[in-house]
Amino acid sequence: MQIQENISLLPFNTFRIAVNAKYFVEVKTIVELQSVLASDICKQNKLLVLGGGSNLLLTKNFDGLVIRLGIKGITVCEQDEDVFVEAGAAEVWNDFVLFCVAQNFAGLENLTLIPGTVGASPVQNIGAYGVEIKDTFHSLLAVEIATGEVKVFDKEACKFDYRESVFKSALKNKYIIASVVFKLQKNAVLKLSYGAIQEELKNRGIVHPSIQDVSDVVAAIRVAKLPDPSTIGNAGSFFKNPVVSAALFQQLVSAFPEVVHFPLADGQEKLAAGWLIEQCGWKGKQIGNAGTWKNQALVLVNCGGASGKEIYDFSELIIQSVKAKFGVVLAREVNIH
Ligand code: EPU
Repeated sequence: MQIQENISLLPFNTFRIAVNAKYFVEVKTIVELQSVLASDICKQNKLLVLGGGSNLLLTKNFDGLVIRLGIKGITVCEQDEDVFVEAGAAEVWNDFVLFCVAQNFAGLENLTLIPGTVGASPVQNIGAYGVEIKDTFHSLLAVEIATGEVKVFDKEACKFDYRESVFKSALKNKYIIASVVFKLQKNAVLKLSYGAIQEELKNRGIVHPSIQDVSDVVAAIRVAKLPDPSTIGNAGSFFKNPVVSAALFQQLVSAFPEVVHFPLADGQEKLAAGWLIEQCGWKGKQIGNAGTWKNQALVLVNCGGASGKEIYDFSELIIQSVKAKFGVVLAREVNIH
């Protein structure tokens, strides 16, 4: 393990933005991480921790230390009907999901093909097709940046919410997640409520789906709708789906009866940001090298050689036009640096 200087971050971010880091190091164990955190370079510079770099937009060279997590390994502990599976932060999320699916451990199959790493998954409580990781999360190990101390966080301590956790709010930039434990089930209780899953199962003539079937169907839905980060730079959904009050929703629905929305338990409504963006004419549109994906307007793409600033400025135009048409301000889901 060695701290390197002036390293390109192009291979380490799925938006494929070409910027450099002043210092860069990859750590493979908690002990290596602790020794980097104790180093002078770390104490004297700002820090950026990278997992898969799949929820990140780099808008300029990073004038500090980038720590890339390389902590790997999967351990399984079976207890009656439950299975506790611990995975190192650097395990690729989809490989981990497919490992669990192949063992017939249920709970993560709806989250097939989400880009990124296991360690990043709790930070924004990743979710898709009616499931969020908080549904199967058990606990995690994290290292405190200031002290190097290792701490266990249970589900309550993580304060999960829609695309949120304590690691994005009160403890932002305070801890580095080293490993995560999920509590999965040997007897599958499948979550099939999401319309697109039911439709695809029907198309395939599957009446009693297995865990593997659900994983396959989710993969097919995602491949049809979302760009593959290995060929087209992107970071998944660029914005969050906005949540609005019942009163604002009433105004919106009377002006736009076809607005796509999901009622929440507290009376508020979650709006489909992709729909709002499409209605403003942005779907499949490109300015310079920045664009929105042709099949899903919520996903911004690097059409080739875009700078981070170009993508950021493009996202600002989208925010302004959605605000002008609907009075709703979109918040970015990706981290901007
Ligand atoms: N829609 C449009 N036009 C578009 C895109 C969407 O009209 O261009 C409308 C459609 O009516 C569609 C609805 O919006 O039915 C919802 O779209 P979709 O099912 O694609 O889901 P989403 O709300 O846009 C969220 C997550 C995705 C996740 C999907 C599936 C957020 C910010 N995004 O997207 O997560 O895969 O649901 O569950 O919550 C990610 O976070 O990176 C991500 C890809």
